[in-house]
Amino acid sequence: MDNSKANFKIDAEIARAWTLPAHLYTDASIFLAEKEKIFARTWQVVGHTSQVANPGDYFTTNLIGEPLLFVRGMDGTLRGFYNVCRHRAGPPAEGCGSRKLFRCGYHGWTYGLDGALISATEIEGVEDFCPEDFALKPVRTEEWFNLVFVNLDPEAQALRESMGELPQQAEKFPFAQMKLFERRTYDMKCNWKTYVDNYLEGYHLPSVHPGLNRELDYNAYVVEPYARHVRQFSPIRGAQPGDATPRRYQAAREDLASDLGADYFWIFPNWMLNCYPDNVSLNIVLPVDAERSLAIFEWYLPEKDHDAPAAKASVEFSDQIQIEDVGICEIVQKNLRSRSYSRGRYSVKQEKGVHAFHRMYGKLMRE
Ligand code: FES
Ligand SMILES: [Fe+2]
Repeated sequence: MDNSKANFKIDAEIARAWTLPAHLYTDASIFLAEKEKIFARTWQVVGHTSQVANPGDYFTTNLIGEPLLFVRGMDGTLRGFYNVCRHRAGPPAEGCGSRKLFRCGYHGWTYGLDGALISATEIEGVEDFCPEDFALKPVRTEEWFNLVFVNLDPEAQALRESMGELPQQAEKFPFAQMKLFERRTYDMKCNWKTYVDNYLEGYHLPSVHPGLNRELDYNAYVVEPYARHVRQFSPIRGAQPGDATPRRYQAAREDLASDLGADYFWIFPNWMLNCYPDNVSLNIVLPVDAERSLAIFEWYLPEKDHDAPAAKASVEFSDQIQIEDVGICEIVQKNLRSRSYSRGRYSVKQEKGVHAFHRMYGKLMRE
């Protein structure tokens, strides 16, 4: 990357600060730099612990182009590996399921659940071949709050340390007792940051979500930036920030919603947990290229509530809000390419979260 391209500064004082320069949202070389400096160095959510509940359970996935494999060992430890065979880069595992060992789909080398090479077919006669040197390459893998995380940086801070105050704020919600109700993926023609910026403010509610806005007082949001996350909440029960969360469902369950309230966490760089006393939704924003991203939405509810009509209604309500958000983000993405635009200013009252994100982003991109 041409270094001058990442040469921007976000003033620590929001009242003086300018937003991120527009080319950071469109430039392919910036996107490549982000993969290395941000996505290969931060803790990323890759799954739910229910996918690897028992010894032998595994799933495969892909993070910024890296094929990955996660498996619960016979000793109960969850481990992560690059899903790349040490012979000639075939696939040790595919999809998900349960296994006692992995057999590469190319020439049949087998690996244990701990990654060790068990057998290399017809390898007799190869000089100085040490099976110990051909174990699957491990990746940093940790679990927190029912979620599975990976960090491609072997030097990264432990997950819990990196999260600061988040566990203390989020763990009061009974996420552990909830089961996946529905998952939807939205393909968006915008940069991942365009979408994150939008999530981090309720400023757009009156214009973009008139239906939602009628139901709440968007001025009542509290936005609290922390070192690596932003917490948004409303002192008015049932209100929410600008994005897709199951309010209708919430309103139908007022009995349960008594004192816990709702918290909306965004965790740098690209995932969100929308927490209610009786449901939690997880959003992950996955960059595909500089101007395309996927938003993965998962809704979790206690199993006993899965058949309630309100559960389905809440997903549909979220879906409507999400469609409105994607609509505005795609227009903004096009406009960021306009020769007329480079940077804007922040509303001190409404855009503290966006400012905090841009500061975190700038810090990692300059390192
Ligand atoms: S590439 Fe895996 S056994 Fe050959
Ligand atoms: Fe929104």
